[in-house]
Amino acid sequence: MPVIFTSRKKFELEISKRAAEICDQIILEMGAELHDDLIQKLSIFRLYLDRLERSAHNPAETEALLINMRTDFESVIQSVRRISRKLLPEQTVNDSLNTSIDMLCQSLERPGFGNIYYECTGTERTIPDLNRMYLYRIIQELIHNAFKHSSAWHVWVRLKWKNENLVIEVEDDGSGFNKISEFIERLRKKNNTLKLRSQAIGASIQYHHGEKGLLAKVDYKL
Ligand SMILES: Nc1ncnc2c1ncn2[C@@H]1O[C@H](COP(=O)(O)OP(=O)(O)OP(=O)(O)O)[C@@H](O)[C@H]1O
Ligand SMILES: [Mg+2]
Repeated sequence: MPVIFTSRKKFELEISKRAAEICDQIILEMGAELHDDLIQKLSIFRLYLDRLERSAHNPAETEALLINMRTDFESVIQSVRRISRKLLPEQTVNDSLNTSIDMLCQSLERPGFGNIYYECTGTERTIPDLNRMYLYRIIQELIHNAFKHSSAWHVWVRLKWKNENLVIEVEDDGSGFNKISEFIERLRKKNNTLKLRSQAIGASIQYHHGEKGLLAKVDYKL
């Protein structure tokens, strides 16, 4: 059943309420990443410094420590980069949807246990700012959903620029075949931001059985 909003104001209120919820979620994720990942990695460096001091008269031990420190430092840089990318895309939703989705995929990737494969085909076309922002949010939510609700190890994000429309696919490999119909039913019924945003920009969103999980398809008329 189509959702009818009594006024544009009500619709915008609903969207901003949900956008605020998404922001809270991102802040929570970054807090967890700082706490569980970065602080742990940095704490190790205090131990390294103690050990370096004690190994002052043992060049072989110093050498071994330096090798480990270099590797761990690289990993600290990667953590900081991941956190900064999570903050950045919010401001750098730039003119190119291809580029901002590429950055989004990099920022949401969890190397080793949540890989995202991004692919775009065809020639990118200009899309009005608001519509581009909504498409960005839709893709962001679909990727979030894949990691949150399925045990996906891999997520594929595809942007297919055709003559008259842009087809966006987000597919995961995290759910058994039997469960998918139930998830599809839930998503079809729910009046979520995916539905709201798609309606607002005249796009359609549909869910299918993917090869090993859910396949969401957004069709946007250019
Ligand atoms: N990729 C997915 N794999 C399996 N189930 C999914 C997937 N995406 C969504 N679902 C199912 O569809 C339901 C509706 O998703 P929806 O994004 O609307 O809400 P939510 O993620 O539960 O909550 P919110 O998005 O408000 O945090 C989910 O609760 C989940 O059961
Ligand atoms: Mg969700």
